[in-house]
Amino acid sequence: MPGLENHPESLAFATRQLHAGARGFDAYGSRATPIYLTAGFEFDDIADGEGRFADPTTGFSYTRVGNPTAAAAERRIADLEGGVGALLVGSGQAATTTALLTILESGDHIVAASAIYEGTRELLRSEFGRLGITTDFVDDPRDPAAWEAAIGPRTRALVAETIANPRGGVLDIPTVAEVAHRHGIPLVVDSTLATPYLLRPLELGADIVIHSASKFLSGHGTGLGGVIIDGGRFAWDAVPGRFRQIAAETGPDGRTFVERSGERAFLDTARRVAMRFGPSPSPLNAFLLLQGIETLSLRVERQSQTAAALAAWLETRPEVAGVDYSGLPSHPDHDLAVRLLPAGQGALFSFTLAGGRPAAEAFTRSVRLFTPMTHLGDVRSLVLHPATTTHASRDDADLERIGVGPGLLRISVGLEDAGDLIADLARGLDAARAATGVVPEDLPEDLPEDLPETVSA
Ligand SMILES: Cc1ncc(COP(=O)(O)O)c(C=O)c1O
Repeated sequence: MPGLENHPESLAFATRQLHAGARGFDAYGSRATPIYLTAGFEFDDIADGEGRFADPTTGFSYTRVGNPTAAAAERRIADLEGGVGALLVGSGQAATTTALLTILESGDHIVAASAIYEGTRELLRSEFGRLGITTDFVDDPRDPAAWEAAIGPRTRALVAETIANPRGGVLDIPTVAEVAHRHGIPLVVDSTLATPYLLRPLELGADIVIHSASKFLSGHGTGLGGVIIDGGRFAWDAVPGRFRQIAAETGPDGRTFVERSGERAFLDTARRVAMRFGPSPSPLNAFLLLQGIETLSLRVERQSQTAAALAAWLETRPEVAGVDYSGLPSHPDHDLAVRLLPAGQGALFSFTLAGGRPAAEAFTRSVRLFTPMTHLGDVRSLVLHPATTTHASRDDADLERIGVGPGLLRISVGLEDAGDLIADLARGLDAARAATGVVPEDLPEDLPEDLPETVSA
């Protein structure tokens, strides 16, 4: 693939995020990746069309199957994650759906961490359940025995987030991968919150990595995308009868994907699944994603630093009952986070206001820089009240059990100046205190006095 072989692993991440995968494939030598906004591609003749249909990796035919702009993004992300290849689809949800439907069939079983993005949880519980694919959720993903105990005879995937949304738990990838592999099962991780800059799960034993590319990979918050990266090392044919679509079903040439595609067997099967279900990305969004990736390391490094400063500051505030950020020593996964995420623990954290929902409402109404919305990984700072949005289908007891109370707010830290963001948080806390009448006994002395009155965002 153009670009990849020119960039040996000795090149640093910051160099590869600019160069990998996007050199030398445009007929006019365009240096920026062109947007191939076309539904289809001309065949030279019938034999050419026949060849491209028989093996979509030999040439483009129709954008639902593949597109040069999407392919450039796929090569770059595969390079950054250290995978053998990647598949770009229309959203993070499409990536999870496509990856799991490549592995699983009706009657199969998933074991998943219960602390995952709520949309994924509902996808597994409700939609996959309807298709006859059942899921058991592990409440304590730190405990390998809990994963082990949930595995049954039809379990075909372990699923977790490397940094969990919304409370920031960190997955012990080597430990959970060891459990999975002992049972001949792949570990599939959603690494949206970590990004390949902070963590490369394939190097730690995960088999398949998923991202919502709508988030940090893009960063600008303008286009949706999802990506699946294949580590290329899982032995799909090790246990006869398993992973039928990848290892047993034969194509027109009489061979299975394992026989035809080798280390890319999962990826090529996933491309066929995507071609049939149709979650294709727009070439325009693939272009926007490539633009975003070029600054990934700079953004995530700075966002992580700012998040750490904000989380530490919030933890000192009397209006705040608790802060969930693995970069803080108070987080139960702090030691693991420092070990697996030495470059930073990410830009997302949650904190709980002692004044409950009224405090959260007052806070959200009064902040000027933090935009209330359901998105994350943006260059702008965002705030969300999970109990009334992403987690609205859960009852109070359930919310209490998972620690997503009425006073919990999820923060995605952007690229604004850290001092301005702390001033905005202080404004929100003031409002929360005024609204709930919760007057802390010991007001800290470092409350910023000159809060900006107007903000040009
Ligand atoms: C961790 C995680 N995975 C997947 C998704 C779904 O991604 P998308 O919105 O691109 O479908 C989200 C969305 O918030 C997420 O936070």
